[in-house]
Amino acid sequence: MRMVDLIEKKKDGLEHNEEELHFIIDGYVKGHIPDYQMSAWMMAICFQGLTMQETILLTKEMMYSGEILDLSSIHGIKVDKHSTGGVGDKTSLVLGPMVAACGVPVAKMSGRGLGHTGGTLDKLESIPGFCIQIEKDDFIKQVNECHFSIIGQNEHLVPADKKMYALRDVTGTVACIPLIASSIMSKKLAAGSDAILLDVKYGNGAFMKTKEEAKKLAQVMIDIGHSLGKDTRVTLSNMSQPLGNAIGNSLEVKEAILTLLGKGPDDLFQLCLQSGIQMLLQAQKTKSLQEARQMLMKVIEDQSAFHVLCQMVKSQGGNEKYIQHPELFENAKEIIPVYSIEQGYVKDLKARDLGLVSMKLGGGRASIDDVIDYSVGLILNKKIGDYVQKGEVLLYVHTNHELSSELKDEILKAYVFQNEYVEKPTLIDEVLQ
Ligand code: URA
Repeated sequence: MRMVDLIEKKKDGLEHNEEELHFIIDGYVKGHIPDYQMSAWMMAICFQGLTMQETILLTKEMMYSGEILDLSSIHGIKVDKHSTGGVGDKTSLVLGPMVAACGVPVAKMSGRGLGHTGGTLDKLESIPGFCIQIEKDDFIKQVNECHFSIIGQNEHLVPADKKMYALRDVTGTVACIPLIASSIMSKKLAAGSDAILLDVKYGNGAFMKTKEEAKKLAQVMIDIGHSLGKDTRVTLSNMSQPLGNAIGNSLEVKEAILTLLGKGPDDLFQLCLQSGIQMLLQAQKTKSLQEARQMLMKVIEDQSAFHVLCQMVKSQGGNEKYIQHPELFENAKEIIPVYSIEQGYVKDLKARDLGLVSMKLGGGRASIDDVIDYSVGLILNKKIGDYVQKGEVLLYVHTNHELSSELKDEILKAYVFQNEYVEKPTLIDEVLQ
């Protein structure tokens, strides 16, 4: 077999078989196929697409390119959760403890943030002492004991995706549904859980700009999951504005703590509640939506979800006093209010642009080896649907440097106003399975 013939085949819109896909993925991981041929093939996929059968076969080839985690010594049905990424998305820090407190084991691997989106690992590392790299046996022991652990992505997991994703990033081949679906699902399937809940986001701050695109991606991932016998469900959620009010690492941890204590922003709590209901159903804790909701409300009211977070932080070497007393987190040197120069209802709040502002303050990475300043970020005071008077505070900038006029301008431009009433957006539109 020759790679050049397979590139031609895909360019002509023809279907690959299992043997051909194995040749491509195996050859690329082993270094027999060079980057230039792989990128030509992936570009052909961007134009010609893949059939569902090809997408499933590609996912399997990618999944088996490395280690498959064996979580069978964790008791119970393990449900993994994945979000396609957004701004202010601290869901794992709230949803994980809520579901774990209901007795569902959550053994999660997360990634770091890049560009406008923040990563769960960076947020956790803002807690002094917290360790994201623990031995597999300790990870399993911790999940058996407190039902919850989040660790860094195992580097032996899906090496094919690591190489392909880095190449896609620089060859304009990221935004392609079969390539995104196989990338996400190969990692989720290799991570060893029994069921998977995916939060596919759409809107300004997300990969998928429209609900229709998000739905297509969701359906492909569900079909992949089902073909491998995993209960796979998707919440389609609107990322037209940041989730919650906090953007930035320790600011988001503090907001997650507040939410676990029942005092957080409603949009974040509702998303965690809706997702948690699905996860309890997937873990077969109950068959009733109503009962799942009651179980989740109870672990907030009796603070058992909050205690799971404390226990998890302690087990992973973090200083749990920061969770019990969030005022211990170091504050940025300055907290600067940004005042509105317009009035009206907030119609749009560009999540991506605010994510980039937080990154430029030092709260995120422009490139992979940038060092993060955990204390900086933004706290939103106004969101879509709020009425704003001229001179009212839109948001607070937490910074260790002066706020440049360019950044202030970017913040002001992220808010779009109109005179007519604006309804607050619904967050979860649909659950697909
Ligand atoms: N996230 C992934 O892991 N892969 C993609 O291709 C896109 C988003």
